[in-house]
Amino acid sequence: MTETTVVHDAGQVVHVADDGIRTVANGGVAIEDGEIVDVGPTDDVVREYPVDTADTAVDASGKTVLPGYVDPHTHAVFAGERVDEFAAKLRGKSYQEIQAEGGGILSTVQAVREATRTELRDHLLDHLDTMLSHGTTTAEVKSGYGLSVDAERKLLEAVQLANDRHPVDLIPTFLGAHAVPDEMDPDAYVDSVIDEQLPAITKADLAVFCDVFCDEGAFTREQSRRILEAGIECGLTPKIHAEEFAHLGGGQLAAELGAASADHLLQSTKADAAAMADSDVTPVLLPGTAFTLGVEYAEPSLFEKAGLPVAIATDFNPNCYTQSMEFAMSLACNGMRMTPETALEGATCHAAAALNLKDGTGTLQEGAPGDLVVADVPRFEYIPYNAGVRTTEAVLVDGEVVYRD
Ligand code: NIG
Ligand code: FE
Repeated sequence: MTETTVVHDAGQVVHVADDGIRTVANGGVAIEDGEIVDVGPTDDVVREYPVDTADTAVDASGKTVLPGYVDPHTHAVFAGERVDEFAAKLRGKSYQEIQAEGGGILSTVQAVREATRTELRDHLLDHLDTMLSHGTTTAEVKSGYGLSVDAERKLLEAVQLANDRHPVDLIPTFLGAHAVPDEMDPDAYVDSVIDEQLPAITKADLAVFCDVFCDEGAFTREQSRRILEAGIECGLTPKIHAEEFAHLGGGQLAAELGAASADHLLQSTKADAAAMADSDVTPVLLPGTAFTLGVEYAEPSLFEKAGLPVAIATDFNPNCYTQSMEFAMSLACNGMRMTPETALEGATCHAAAALNLKDGTGTLQEGAPGDLVVADVPRFEYIPYNAGVRTTEAVLVDGEVVYRD
């Protein structure tokens, strides 16, 4: 039996496709067995897919219907928070000073090592509930707070367990090279990421991507290259934290290695953008990170001018404590001067490109998964405009209503 969902009478349906955004007034969407089969004016959709015979009908009168948001860069699996650092930063401490005093990433590592897999899973499930309530239906999640074989595996197993239980679809990334743990020397740690962690993670099939924090105070470009090349050998597609604090050439390395994305990019140059465009590396900009660090935002136009689709993400982590793609879109507009259109593309189809998703995720077109947001606004521009306010009223994943305000 075919399972049918019909969303009807929406004030606006936002048809996001690879070639841009179109809006349909008084729109409808039909979904069969989890896949979008029709998008258009309500009258046309319900003629083919009548409301009375649908298994699920969603009346979206006065609302806006959009593709579910895709968050392509999160560190959502961790233990503890770092709220005290928030206050310290506001008293003038830099991210690097906090790190040097044993705070930052390494304090979260300590908390993760002490947590059980079930505790990590439950903590992640709570954050996924928040993400879903802000319209996220697909999210990448990185490890990187374990920094040992056992702790990195524990984190990615927690991601797998949460993925099995939660409607938000999770894409796991191995980020063993997030920081050098206290007990090790940097080169020995790089060797252990390559020789021990990567084989263990890939043998258990726990990750799709391999990421490296390529920056001053983290990993050099040569160390990053070694790790990402080893990841490729193990079947993991590269991603990279590049040019966040210093320009080490991570964007160019991403281009050389055919990475799916290069992320952060606060110090990128025109030459980096051109190299990334030649190799189809999607730039992922993280306005929440610049916002919480109090530094200059990345420059979307650098990448747009090179012809690249710009993706945006939350970078949700204990330092950048926001799960909301609605907020990321608002910051993309107000902070990075993106338009509501490019911010929405960045949070949907371009974000899916950063995750190499080719099944229509992040679009609202026929054949795509039936992942939708019903937002309580008359037009999509209100979503970034209404800064800091949750506009998500309902969320559908594979045609099923999984969240309702
Ligand atoms: O993407 N830049 C490196 N990693 C994270 C921060 C992680 C943390 O501070 O816990 C980021 O911003
Ligand atoms: Fe990050």
